[in-house]
Amino acid sequence: MKTNLNNSKPLQVKDLAKKSICDGHVYLTTKEGRQFYLLKPGILIEEAFIKKYAITQTTFDYVAVTDQLIISQFQTLFKELKYLQFEKDLRQKTIEIEVFFREKFSRSSHFLNFALACHEEFCAIPRNELIRMHETDLHLFRKSLYSASLAVIIAMTNDYYHYPMIKDFYNLAFALDIGLCHESYSYFVAEACNRENSVPSSGKKWMELQGASVQEISTYLGHPEKSYEFFQQQKGLLAYPELKEIVLYQHELSSGQGFPRGLPKGHVSSWEAIVLLASAMVDICDEYPFETNMMNYLKEFNNQKLKEIPVQRVYAKLCLSLDQVQNIKENAG
Ligand SMILES: [Fe+2]
Repeated sequence: MKTNLNNSKPLQVKDLAKKSICDGHVYLTTKEGRQFYLLKPGILIEEAFIKKYAITQTTFDYVAVTDQLIISQFQTLFKELKYLQFEKDLRQKTIEIEVFFREKFSRSSHFLNFALACHEEFCAIPRNELIRMHETDLHLFRKSLYSASLAVIIAMTNDYYHYPMIKDFYNLAFALDIGLCHESYSYFVAEACNRENSVPSSGKKWMELQGASVQEISTYLGHPEKSYEFFQQQKGLLAYPELKEIVLYQHELSSGQGFPRGLPKGHVSSWEAIVLLASAMVDICDEYPFETNMMNYLKEFNNQKLKEIPVQRVYAKLCLSLDQVQNIKENAG
């Protein structure tokens, strides 16, 4: 890992246990002076991990990447949004959030600041389900954490102001691919998802070319239905339960070449587009250069999925709104 360990601070295991998601880089130095990289930002802190190190009361080397002040400021803004009633006030508050977002992420603040604030405020997925995702693949968990928070900012910039709706977008994006959590999940399954997200209808072909097993292919092709079942079982998770249809139709295409049903899907609503764009923006992978470069990443993002109207329209509105908030701020002095 390329983190500068000169900035590290000691962190006792009891203090690490207070965090539910890791907010920095965590290393362990052995008695012989060898250093091991243990945890990266954005992964779940599991009980088993804490128990293992609690016995010896281990102290880790820790390099923080977040700023508690920024996280609290986002949280305050979300809470203010929650208790507003009138359309005009809601709109004003989301603009305030966009201004703050732009200000922070134009200056290389770590995106985890926003992701953690969103997680704290909007996540309604039971902890055991989060653990299940994390145990399947910590990269799948991190992808979900980041894409769900992107769904929040994409929704706000696309004129969704109502807190329950924004919360639903968060949870839909987070558990969109929970159906992948299966014993046949593998690198091939994750990579097929990434490919399908950037070049629709390429995932299955790629798996076949790579010689993926029948079980891996069926885990991949069956995941929208499995994720949909999850949302059916989680009564009360969504304020607008009808939105769970997004999950079922996430990989259907206008050409009818999608899955699981191969339905020709000529129309994609803007609420579907929000979740699908958020998911397409984050791969299931090890490194995310956007963590410290989010505004540029958003502006420069481009893949074939964007050519599918209206995902393109939702993306354009995201960029336009974040540009406009800059102008609003400049005009206000
Ligand atoms: Fe998917």
